[in-house]
Amino acid sequence: MRHRAQTVCIKRHNCIETWKHRVSKLQQAPQFNLRFARARSRDPGISSTNYIVVLLTAEEILSTMCGIREPNTLSNISQVKTTHLHLDWTISFEKKILSGYVVLDLITLVDNVEKVVLDSSFLDVTKASYEGKEVKFSIGERQDTFGSALTVELPTIAKAGTAFKLRVDYSTTDKCTAIQFLKPSQTEGKQNPYLFSQCEPIHARALSPCQDSPSIKLTYSAVVTSPLQVVMSALHTGVKDVGNGLKAYSFEQRTTIPSYLIAIAAGNLVGREIGPRSTVWCEPEVIDSAAWEFADTEKFISTGEQLLTPYEWGRYDLLVLPPSFPYGGMENPCLTFVTPTLLAGDKSAVDVVAHEIAHSWMGNLVTTESWEHFWLNEGWTVFIERKITGRIHGEAERQFSSIIGWKALKESTELFGADSPATRLNTDLTGIDPDDYFSSIPYEKGFNLLYHIEKVVGGPKIFEPYMKAYVENFASKTVNTEQWKTFLYEYMGKTYGQEVVDKLNTIDFELWLRGTGMPPVDPKFDTTLADACYELAHKWDTAREDKELKQFSAKDLENFTAAQKIVFLERLTDAEPLPHHLITKMDELYHLTPIRNADVRFRWQQVCLQTSFEPIYPEVVKFVTEQGRMKFVRPLYRLLYKAKNGAQLAKDTYLEHRDFYHPIAGQLIEKDIGLKQ
Ligand code: BES
Ligand code: ZN
Repeated sequence: MRHRAQTVCIKRHNCIETWKHRVSKLQQAPQFNLRFARARSRDPGISSTNYIVVLLTAEEILSTMCGIREPNTLSNISQVKTTHLHLDWTISFEKKILSGYVVLDLITLVDNVEKVVLDSSFLDVTKASYEGKEVKFSIGERQDTFGSALTVELPTIAKAGTAFKLRVDYSTTDKCTAIQFLKPSQTEGKQNPYLFSQCEPIHARALSPCQDSPSIKLTYSAVVTSPLQVVMSALHTGVKDVGNGLKAYSFEQRTTIPSYLIAIAAGNLVGREIGPRSTVWCEPEVIDSAAWEFADTEKFISTGEQLLTPYEWGRYDLLVLPPSFPYGGMENPCLTFVTPTLLAGDKSAVDVVAHEIAHSWMGNLVTTESWEHFWLNEGWTVFIERKITGRIHGEAERQFSSIIGWKALKESTELFGADSPATRLNTDLTGIDPDDYFSSIPYEKGFNLLYHIEKVVGGPKIFEPYMKAYVENFASKTVNTEQWKTFLYEYMGKTYGQEVVDKLNTIDFELWLRGTGMPPVDPKFDTTLADACYELAHKWDTAREDKELKQFSAKDLENFTAAQKIVFLERLTDAEPLPHHLITKMDELYHLTPIRNADVRFRWQQVCLQTSFEPIYPEVVKFVTEQGRMKFVRPLYRLLYKAKNGAQLAKDTYLEHRDFYHPIAGQLIEKDIGLKQ
């Protein structure tokens, strides 16, 4: 067996793990990778039957050379990398655009670099300059969801290690997927316009030309001129009056971050201190309720610090967005963005804040190398979130939220289908929009893997020091699934010896990481807090034939927490659709329809839609047009679309309120209700 050096890589077929381990080691020294492939091809073992030959695709060779596999960027990250980005923007609320320029500090990684290719999406680029001198640029044909490559030619061919500045003048356009501009009517105060961005996963390219890959970590600074208060995912460093009712707001993010964490919002905002390093920002109308709801923020941060390492970002502020914000929360550094649906009035939804705080370490400090390892951001974050809330509220609560998570995981798995590649932890995103793979799977399957490992190696005593060591080891770097696993084995072996390594070896990592469907192990969560919910649901489920329903009373639900109501309703969504007289009776006794807690409201409407209970339809329409959080609106639109006499109503509702939704939410809802492929 002889093969050309560049295109082959040899591995012993019974030793795939070792080979992968070596490759992942070599990824830290990218210049050796190709030589490694060549050296192996001259290995005398080549003729032995113990070896098999792996033909590498062009893409794999490239990724081996630059050390990473990154199917979701168009930029030439193997040749050049960004170290800092400076944004200078002026906000026009009239034109609904940002205009100005970006200056990228770049450094070449290899010799003979002729050009810089940046990601861009629907940007209007007018000029590019290299170290102050105008240079040629071109914008490639749009590659669907990945946007267009913006190629800037360098005036001279650069050798490895050349540092230079590139400036691109541009403005955003009305097709921008990263920003939503809101009319005054779409805000709480109704007087002023508003804008906010959402870049994760691959929308930063619609905000600014950049290397839009999480593998590139950079610092950033910004000056933004605006008639209304501006906040960003960075430290606020100054504000200047620039006349005409405009101010220039300055920011600096001094810790390296991936591009998806660049964020901006502007509007009629006020801030109130809620802790030693925290201010909550929002429209004045909701500041009292926001300050009350998030009063426990500091407790979450300091618990995170006890579990992991000191909080690195200086400030931890919160921004409560207008209702169309498409997520529960977004971990923008120094300034978490949250949906106003968290303002439940009973602190029942603040686990979202614990979650976003946990990202300060998992995701923001230790960042997934590409979207194919997204589970390392979210699975770890859910795990730490539950450690934080568990320390504060007790183990029973951690078990209870894990049960809620398991149900979400089941729903996502059923939605994609148990054999869908989207149900893998370590996914293949070649040609795939990461937004299309978004689900509870990376969160909850990821959580369950970590939970399982913790149990197998001997519990928190053994596992918690490892979490901390993991953060220390990968802080300010990126990590992929193989590197994560290699470090796990190394740490456990070094710290606790072969005994713990043997325990790790009982875990089928390949199945967990690359298998489809539900996790291979039943977590057997403690059901202490869930039992009452299950019993009540069972009682209703078995009362289908009963006309009187005398066994039920308003008292049944009286002592339930919001989370217990959710589990009760979730259990009912697992049962066959309920007869309508049960739904009517349940609402009469428990007054579920008027409940404002968004998670309870969502689950109740789901129970009703599953049985095509038409009196709930106007309530569903109200809920999905009052707020745009995808966790609620997407399943409700899907269910309404499937329900009897619901399809047309779903379409009409969406089309009438299309402008209300964030562009990403709009695109996905359109797919959900058959308006788009
Ligand atoms: N980082 C995510 C939000 C996200 C993920 C936005 C992928 C875009 C692409 C955030 O931390 C998150 O997970 N939010 C959850 C909160 C939850 C799991 C507590 C949400 O929005 O529901
Ligand atoms: Zn998250």
